[in-house]
Amino acid sequence: MFRPFEVSLFYIKGEIKMNIEKIKENIERDLNNVPNTDILNQVKVKYLGKNGIITNLQVGIKELPNEEKKEYGIKLNTIKKFFNDSFEIVRTRLHEEEINQKLKEDSIDITLPSEAIITGSLHPFSRIVAEISDLFASMGYDIIDGDEIETDEYCFRRLNIPSGHPARDAQDTFYIDEEFLLRSQTSASQAHIMEDNKDKTPIRMICPGKVYRRDEDATHSHQFGQVEALVVDRNISLADLKGTLEIFAQKLLGDNTKIRFRPSYFPFTEPSVEVDVSCFKCGGKGCHLCKKTGWIELLGAGMVHPNVLKMGGYDPDIYTGFAFGTGLDRLAMFKYNIPDIRYLYTNDIRMLKQFDRKDDE
Ligand code: DAH
Repeated sequence: MFRPFEVSLFYIKGEIKMNIEKIKENIERDLNNVPNTDILNQVKVKYLGKNGIITNLQVGIKELPNEEKKEYGIKLNTIKKFFNDSFEIVRTRLHEEEINQKLKEDSIDITLPSEAIITGSLHPFSRIVAEISDLFASMGYDIIDGDEIETDEYCFRRLNIPSGHPARDAQDTFYIDEEFLLRSQTSASQAHIMEDNKDKTPIRMICPGKVYRRDEDATHSHQFGQVEALVVDRNISLADLKGTLEIFAQKLLGDNTKIRFRPSYFPFTEPSVEVDVSCFKCGGKGCHLCKKTGWIELLGAGMVHPNVLKMGGYDPDIYTGFAFGTGLDRLAMFKYNIPDIRYLYTNDIRMLKQFDRKDDE
């Protein structure tokens, strides 16, 4: 009578008894012929995979009579160990071979010259900020980093520009809500530093940075740069302002540069002046840059208005001060001979490359 149980028993017994040496031989042959780790893994599946030769034999042990289970179990384990040990040896060898091969392929000639590393250069705007900061730091000024998001209070009211004041018209900016806005002038830093300086000690600071206005034409951008300066101390006079501006103009635009004051109006200074510099192109003789006048308008300045000092917590009977503010874009254009303000913002690599002067960075 056909009994599947006996057949499988026979198969197990026969396979193990008769082929135990054969299996070992096969394992050896298979492993010795393996060319790479991919095939090696396939050999592992062949013997130890779900349907592998050794796995199947192990599963079949259950069906042997109890007294034989142990003997065959030990034998199978020996085969399994033999496989795993041999497998490990081959795996290590192949791994080493593969690494060596890769190293050979990837080897580089370290004597070849390297490719040039392309680096950028400072934007003319950053250059001018660095130069002005260096100059004023050398005169003992603090360099302040103001906030670009300001309040109406600090950008206008504390600078003697109450709501409804006509001076606001020229400084329409971007409003976030009724109170918060993008600063239209770095002058806002004046109000902050006076308030923050709790001991009311003298102040000497400049604040370079970006400002914003609702402007849109060929010569005005919605964003541009300014630098503000503020000095507050006892006995500060217009002469101090003039001396400071003379140094500023000469260091920045050339030793022969002259300056002149013209009366002007700013709500936060009294008296206020417009400051011109002698044309650095024609030396004052008159050319198209200075529109034949010999002078170029450079900045606004004046003595700090007593109201502004008071709102900043400084007694105007004891303290006086001067302030000035100027556009950085115009300065950069003058200094680096840039004919159009838009060149500063279009990031044309041909223009920026001309400032690639590593030696003086
Ligand atoms: N904040 C002024 C502007 O944006 C420039 C200015 C003028 C600043 C006179 C000053 C100053 O500090 O005293 O037009």
